[in-house]
Amino acid sequence: MLAAERDRTVPSYVGVTRYLGGLAIAFFCLEVLTGILLMIYYRPSIGAAHLSTAVIIDEVNLGWLVRSLHRRGADFLLLLAAVHLFRVYLSRAYENPRQLTWATGIFLALVFVAFDLTGVLLPWDQYAYWATDFLRQALAAIPIVGHMVVTILWGGSDLAEAGLLRFYAFHIAVLPWVALFILSVHVMTVWRFGLKRPAQGDGTGSPRLFYPDFLTDFFLAFLVILGLLMSAAIVFPVRLGPAADPLSPLLAVLPRWYLMPLHQLLELVSSSVAAVVGGLALLVVFFLPALDAGTTESVRGRNVRVAIGVLVVAACVLLGVWGYRF
Ligand code: HEM
Repeated sequence: MLAAERDRTVPSYVGVTRYLGGLAIAFFCLEVLTGILLMIYYRPSIGAAHLSTAVIIDEVNLGWLVRSLHRRGADFLLLLAAVHLFRVYLSRAYENPRQLTWATGIFLALVFVAFDLTGVLLPWDQYAYWATDFLRQALAAIPIVGHMVVTILWGGSDLAEAGLLRFYAFHIAVLPWVALFILSVHVMTVWRFGLKRPAQGDGTGSPRLFYPDFLTDFFLAFLVILGLLMSAAIVFPVRLGPAADPLSPLLAVLPRWYLMPLHQLLELVSSSVAAVVGGLALLVVFFLPALDAGTTESVRGRNVRVAIGVLVVAACVLLGVWGYRF
């Protein structure tokens, strides 16, 4: 068994884009590490959250860097997960027998979003407060379940101590275990079924050894990206705004970048239409393996699938840029 693992090989068709999923796992581990360091000084109460974040930035040795890495790393992790899922879509690697890999991948991306949305509130500055309050209003507008979800997550109908504590508990105690469980299933299914062979292309070159060849390249790629991320965290350190003041609303609050397309859609159509479009899009993506279950795909079918994917991504980018510009 051990000898078999040592001799495990990686087929020649496995190119750099197949590193994306592994890199996402590595950067998730970086979030866990920096998050644990932040926990040492962070205090989750409305009287102390902002002050303790200021202490992390100004007084703790390299605290500003750890915080910036945690925040910039979160952006990067979400981007990596999105590009990884898109690559899986383009190569139709969600088809049988990899339906569970696809489903757990989507769940994992949603868990990362939940990590991000709960984390953003924690510094308790004006942006944190009003961005989270905007989210509360958007969720409360969802018919039937909206108010119930808000009451459970916010601990009431307003954002106060109970909400901060719940977001913190989700961020550091609930989501990490949920993520670990889903990640384990995701990785086990990849290990079990292997990586999908491309429809065309070179499957004929000689395979590389998983250890050390593949792992060395992977580790180098991780180090280079980590260096770039560190540089971004040093050159553009994350600022801390004034402490949250529930009596002074911010005039304009931009949502997190990945919510911008949905936010812009809300500006163009009514909130119920945007909720239906968003909900349907999520359902289609989740059930893609069932909706596109044919065994072989014609060249025309492939072109149509790729065109749909590219158009959807282009529409999201357009809506996002539009939202930031106007
Ligand atoms: C076990 C894992 C994690 C732990 C223990 C943790 C812990 C923390 C703590 C203590 C803070 C508050 C400190 C502060 O506001 O600077 C924080 C903030 C934050 N976390 Fe995490 N975190 C974890 C994983 C993640 C992940 C996976 C993401 C994103 C995908 C994330 C995104 C954020 C964001 C965006 C903030 C706000 C940063 C800021 O503006 O200061 N965290 N986290």
